[in-house]
Amino acid sequence: MANIVVTGASRGLGFEFVRQLAKFSKTPNVFALCRNPQSAEKLQKLSSENSNIKIVKADMTDFESYKNVVSSIQGNINNGGINLLINNAGIMLKDTVNSVKYKSIIDSFEINAVAPLLFTKALLPLLKKADENAFPTNVGKSSVLNISAHLGSIEENTAGGYASYRLSKAAVNMATKCLAMELKPANIFVMALHPGWVKTDMGGEAAPLTAEASVNGMLTVLAKCEESHRGGLFTNKGKRIPW
Ligand SMILES: NC(=O)c1ccc[n+]([C@@H]2O[C@H](COP(=O)([O-])OP(=O)(O)OC[C@H]3O[C@@H](n4cnc5c(N)ncnc54)[C@H](OP(=O)(O)O)[C@@H]3O)[C@@H](O)[C@H]2O)c1
Repeated sequence: MANIVVTGASRGLGFEFVRQLAKFSKTPNVFALCRNPQSAEKLQKLSSENSNIKIVKADMTDFESYKNVVSSIQGNINNGGINLLINNAGIMLKDTVNSVKYKSIIDSFEINAVAPLLFTKALLPLLKKADENAFPTNVGKSSVLNISAHLGSIEENTAGGYASYRLSKAAVNMATKCLAMELKPANIFVMALHPGWVKTDMGGEAAPLTAEASVNGMLTVLAKCEESHRGGLFTNKGKRIPW
């Protein structure tokens, strides 16, 4: 049986990842990490309808708490491992070079870049313990998916804006590559995906994509991954995005 961890599962894409992954025929345990479970009513309801969804309280910028978060996941899987970690939690501040502040850069970095790297590090013992079932990719016994953004591409920044967000997503792209290279010998596959412009609290109402279509696309890309995807950044349709 496969076990999956999704960060930032209270709403938006994280919630949708949990919803779709809980339906997979291999009946995975989906650990839905959420910083304020009591106010995540939609997630509570979904979990009450699906016994394989387990809500775990986790503020991803409370780095000292990672040990406890990992312990509570471990407590639910006995001797098993984690087959898939989706580092999804993120924030987007709408600043420009003119309005950007030190704190907005630091806040963006903490959740968008530092958390994916350090939480993967904290979860490593469980990622290494995953069985060889290779679910849900064919390129590693376990996988890490970092939800990045097209706005993190330096080469494709033709408009400016979103300064702190762009910096932090460019950084998570490098974190993805570092993880991918260093975890390859342990047979752990790491990549980054851009979900598209999606109708969520972050993406807004004008976005063309629903969360359902975006997550469906990303899970399809993940399932078809090959060695050439390791460490790269791709769209939710599988097209490579330049750094
Ligand atoms: N939507 C888009 O168009 C789009 C495009 C490109 C990339 N992305 C990326 O996709 C990911 C998900 O975005 P979304 O559109 O679903 O955003 P969203 O609707 O704003 O949801 C963000 C999620 O992240 C969680 N989160 C934020 N800070 C957290 C923290 N410190 N600890 C734990 N959870 C935290 C939020 O939890 P709370 O409910 O507790 O606040 C929420 O569950 C992000 O990494 C984002 O950068 C989105």
